[in-house]
Amino acid sequence: MEEKIMSKINIDIKPVRDIVSKSGDDQDSSLIAILQETQDEYGYLPKPVLKEISRLKDIPLTRIFGVVTFYSQFTLIPRGKHAIKICSGTACHVKGADDVKQKVKEQLNVVEGETTADYQFTLETAACIGTCFLAPVMMVDDRYFGKLTAGRVTDIVDRYSSKV
Ligand code: FES
Repeated sequence: MEEKIMSKINIDIKPVRDIVSKSGDDQDSSLIAILQETQDEYGYLPKPVLKEISRLKDIPLTRIFGVVTFYSQFTLIPRGKHAIKICSGTACHVKGADDVKQKVKEQLNVVEGETTADYQFTLETAACIGTCFLAPVMMVDDRYFGKLTAGRVTDIVDRYSSKV
């Protein structure tokens, strides 16, 4: 069978087959774990991949979509390689988070919720991310950056840009 399924872009189906083959036989308990691992692999949940999970696990596609749309951790939209999450909680707001956010938006040419054209960054905002003493704060992937200024945030994003 073809390893690539055509859509707007070529999606390699082999990784999801490997993920499903490692999962147990229990449909219900393994579906969320499969979806999490699949999203980690692809960066989002492409439709052809969900169809393949449906076929392999014999779970109706509508039920899979129900799970994906119920949990906010899942996304059907392609995301960037790096997730930038800028805190918009009160402490960060008071310490200038809006300026930081504006700088990142200008630098990446995206608005909140968007992914850059090269799929390197997705920009998000979040309510308090729990490190108010470092306000204003942002996360890039799993890493925290605090006491940000417009100048410092530019350097941080540049560093991640050069890693791509
Ligand atoms: S308000 Fe930003 S980390 Fe708490």
